[in-house]
Amino acid sequence: MLVLLNKIIIIIFITLINFSVHSEEINVNYKKTNWSFDGIFGTFDRTSLQRGYQVYNEVCAGCHSIQYLSYRNLSEIGGPEFSIEEAKAIASQFEIEDGPNSDGEMFMRPARLSDKFAKPYPNIEAATAANGGAYPPDMSVLAKARAGGANYIYSLLLGYDETPAGLELDDGVYYNTYMPGNKIKMSSPLFDGIVEYADGTEATMEQLAKDVTTFLVWASEPHLESQKKMGFKAIIYLIILLTLVYMSKQKIWSKLTSKKQEDEEMFDKVERAVSEYEGEDPKTFK
Ligand code: HEC
Repeated sequence: MLVLLNKIIIIIFITLINFSVHSEEINVNYKKTNWSFDGIFGTFDRTSLQRGYQVYNEVCAGCHSIQYLSYRNLSEIGGPEFSIEEAKAIASQFEIEDGPNSDGEMFMRPARLSDKFAKPYPNIEAATAANGGAYPPDMSVLAKARAGGANYIYSLLLGYDETPAGLELDDGVYYNTYMPGNKIKMSSPLFDGIVEYADGTEATMEQLAKDVTTFLVWASEPHLESQKKMGFKAIIYLIILLTLVYMSKQKIWSKLTSKKQEDEEMFDKVERAVSEYEGEDPKTFK
């Protein structure tokens, strides 16, 4: 049982360690930055999420949709935690198609908290056609879908570089150190000061990339924080349960062992009595 207990504890620790290093499993030299959400106790930095939303909205949303996110998510615990009023105000800036009305026609109305994020293009074909033949991927799960996750997106945004001598790129294709194949059909979306942060933070390239990446990681896992809390509670619960099971096992088996000893002593006595009766020395009795 002790061996089993040890094994389980080792498995739990390996899982915990994996949790915090999972993003480093591929061998690419990503640009380094500290993510507040790393590790089992990691949480999102609210101000970074709010700034990240601002960057997404003012820069990326022109081309990239986030189809699974609703405006109400912006005010939920564990996210950017805008107040309900702020989230309502954000939603009302967008127009959503609704209907049909009593005349059978679709119509546009301001978005509500329950609506999904407005999309820049009606469908993938329109998005691809408008972007020189490349589809700007939906960002709902982008941070999860790409190997390297947050580190990849962060590095990609800062990874635009001079095209190396000898390499010819077509119009509308750019050189990026971190894009697989190094060619990307998105020009660098960020530059210093492209947004003016509502909270006064200086909008350097690194800051912009970090904030928008944090926002995209949250967008792909809006319940990450509560899941981590749950997971941690489950581990504590399992450890307590295991300790209790182990202790009760010790108790039950100790009774059984003493019963066995009693039985053996009784058997010895009987054996001695029998051999005395037969006149034999119990020590040589086989
Ligand atoms: C003018 C349109 C446009 C804007 C604005 C834009 N993108 Fe893109 N983005 C694209 C297109 C097109 C692609 C696909 C490129 C390709 O496949 O070569 C892309 C691809 C990407 C990729 C994916 C690379 C991959 O692994 O497939 C990421 C990440 C990305 N964009 C992030 C952003 C972020 C973050 C912003 C906002 C700061 C942003 N983009 C703004 C058009 C845009």
